[in-house]
Amino acid sequence: MKKLSVKLGVLFFIIIFGLITFMFFFLHNEIADSRIEEELQNLQSRGNSHRAILEKNFNDEMIDHVVLMESESNTDVVITNNSGEVLDSSAPFDTFKKYIEVPLSSIPRDGQVVEEKWNQEPYVATVSPIQINHEVTGYVYMFQDTVSFRSLIQKLNEHFLISGWISVVFTMVIIIFLSKGITKPLIKMKEATSQISKGNFSVSLPKTSDDELGDLANSIELLANDLNYLKQERNEFLASISHELRTPLTYIKGYADIVRKRNLPKEESNKYLTIIVEETNRLATLIKELFELAKLDQNSFIIEKEMIDLNKFFTKIDQRFSPIFNEKQMEFTMNCQQNLFLKADPLRLEQIIFNLLDNSMKYSANGAKISLMTWKNKNEIHIAIKDNGKGIPEKDLPYIFNRFYRVDKSRTRSLGGTGLGLAIVKELINAHGAEIVVKSKENIGTEFELIFKEEKK
Ligand SMILES: Nc1ncnc2c1ncn2[C@@H]1O[C@H](COP(=O)(O)OP(=O)(O)OP(=O)(O)O)[C@@H](O)[C@H]1O
Ligand SMILES: [Mg+2]
Repeated sequence: MKKLSVKLGVLFFIIIFGLITFMFFFLHNEIADSRIEEELQNLQSRGNSHRAILEKNFNDEMIDHVVLMESESNTDVVITNNSGEVLDSSAPFDTFKKYIEVPLSSIPRDGQVVEEKWNQEPYVATVSPIQINHEVTGYVYMFQDTVSFRSLIQKLNEHFLISGWISVVFTMVIIIFLSKGITKPLIKMKEATSQISKGNFSVSLPKTSDDELGDLANSIELLANDLNYLKQERNEFLASISHELRTPLTYIKGYADIVRKRNLPKEESNKYLTIIVEETNRLATLIKELFELAKLDQNSFIIEKEMIDLNKFFTKIDQRFSPIFNEKQMEFTMNCQQNLFLKADPLRLEQIIFNLLDNSMKYSANGAKISLMTWKNKNEIHIAIKDNGKGIPEKDLPYIFNRFYRVDKSRTRSLGGTGLGLAIVKELINAHGAEIVVKSKENIGTEFELIFKEEKK
């Protein structure tokens, strides 16, 4: 059995069928018992009322009268004296003989049932004692044919059988609809997932319910959208990489051909060779950065956090950068709050600061002012790097952290940018659980602010 709907249906059916059978069986027995009980009580009370009449006048005339009454009904009476001798009966006495032979010890005033096995015996019987002056003077035996009992039960059985069949048919119909209703969305989802695995991400599933099945359908749609987005992003990324790799290679090949084929004066061929070296360096950097990003993507790099004394840390950075700033006549100021400690990976933090300072230098004219500030605000440690360079146009701001995104492609190329620096910064910031905010105005300047949550230990 492969189909879920069939499995579910059969399971439901077995459970419900079992329940119905049990309930019907129970109900049938209850009804049958109470109906038979009722019939026996009727018989007993009929005997009791004959007894009441006979107690008033226990003579032949009254006995005849009672027997006459019973000969016209579907019940029978036998009247005996206190020693069990039959005084009169409404039908041939032989039929009832064996019930009367039962020794009659103490019979309650309200009488008792002598025979109740309606499904074995031809008659059921009751007896009522006739008491005159507190002494038993005779007995009234009442008999009823058990054929009527059997036909009563047979009718009851027929009713139960009909209603049993009706419930079975109804149950089956309901189960078929119900199991189909449950499995239909599942089948749709299965089809959708096999479409996704074939690469068709444009699946849409009907929003039928807000239960777990509905949630599952939503998750599948979300998964398809995410996969679609990832696929597109990967394609774009691969296209960008191949483009980025091709450009320096074209330069290298072009200039190498020139140097090889033409007989150039030494000075000129040196110029071209320098370009080849520069482009080769660019390629090497690009590949290194791509490798870095791939590692970040896989989360295979480890962040080794330690307490960093920010003052010491930035003094070192200052020492490393000041020759470059001097060369470009840039003014670099540092403003660090005293005794500020940050828990972070020092190498990665250096990489972040290095990228941001590198950008500030690259995208600012000679003589620009660059500043670095650190401060603590509540439980956050802020590091800001600000320049008064060319700034970033507002329309480009949302994209600068994307891979290979450069505002001015041709100009930044001449500055050696690959457009990966900020993408790496962003990944590293995320890995630290920190935040990066950028504010920039074209021709006024740019400020990058890093916000770290303070970790005490
Ligand atoms: N301080 C800044 N001032 C002006 N523009 C900036 C600044 N920082 C970044 N940008 C813009 O954002 C783009 C993306 O920066 P990013 O650091 O990612 O790449 P890149 O500097 O071009 O290349 P790479 O850092 O990989 O060498 C830059 O090309 C530049 O246009
Ligand atoms: Mg950069």
